[in-house]
Amino acid sequence: MRVFAIVVAAGSGSRMNSKIKKQFMELAGVPILIHTLRVLEQSPLIDQIVLVIGQEDLERVQALIDRYKIRKVTHYAAGGQERQASVWNGLQVLRALVDMQQDLVIIHDAARPLVSTTDIERIVESAREHSAVTIGTPAKDTIKKVNNGWVEETLLRHQLYAVQTPQGFRASLLYEAHEKAMRDNHLGTDDASLVEWAGAPVWVVEGSYRNIKITTPEDLQIAASFLQEENI
Ligand code: CTP
Ligand code: MG
Repeated sequence: MRVFAIVVAAGSGSRMNSKIKKQFMELAGVPILIHTLRVLEQSPLIDQIVLVIGQEDLERVQALIDRYKIRKVTHYAAGGQERQASVWNGLQVLRALVDMQQDLVIIHDAARPLVSTTDIERIVESAREHSAVTIGTPAKDTIKKVNNGWVEETLLRHQLYAVQTPQGFRASLLYEAHEKAMRDNHLGTDDASLVEWAGAPVWVVEGSYRNIKITTPEDLQIAASFLQEENI
């Protein structure tokens, strides 16, 4: 059994409101994408990485990969309109490399540079056992369902998790869920939700509140302070 990672880095980062795409913005002098890839590079359980990027960024990304000696990125795939299409394109490349029945696929957002090797280890271990897993953290806030400005329902906090990536799957399970979603024009917000929608159970592994997704400008400050702490 081998473990492949698909890292999606083909978004436009619209909520960051910056000239430079957020995956190329620097934290502690290193591009966010490289922080992310370094963690996968250092994880002994990950064999190979398929990197999904915008075609216009290919040269610049290849130069970064060389410069920072990321050896596990062996293949590239082109980004799609939605994140889901980007993962799908990654899966097309992966199809030629994996044993669909045996191998595991880990999906990770380039925009989560604070993922740890422990998170990855936990996801790989539990994907072996449960076939479809996501990392997540218990909700800290009370979450309400809102409709047209009015609260419709207050959800039970102890049942709520904020899910992150990495998410891990038996390759065939993820591939088939994506294929079905394509066929039925179904759009999900993450990969686990496609597997759920396709009818398979998904296990949640408890992760870390540090594994934030860099989405809006203030996230850069939070991530920088976490990184600084790690380096003390
Ligand atoms: N992503 C992708 N292809 C897309 C959209 C997103 O590969 N068509 C990737 C992003 O690069 C990111 C991850 O999916 O690493 C999570 O997406 P998100 O945080 O939403 O990033 P963006 O879509 O780039 O940002 P925004 O939604 O603010 O435009
Ligand atoms: Mg997005």
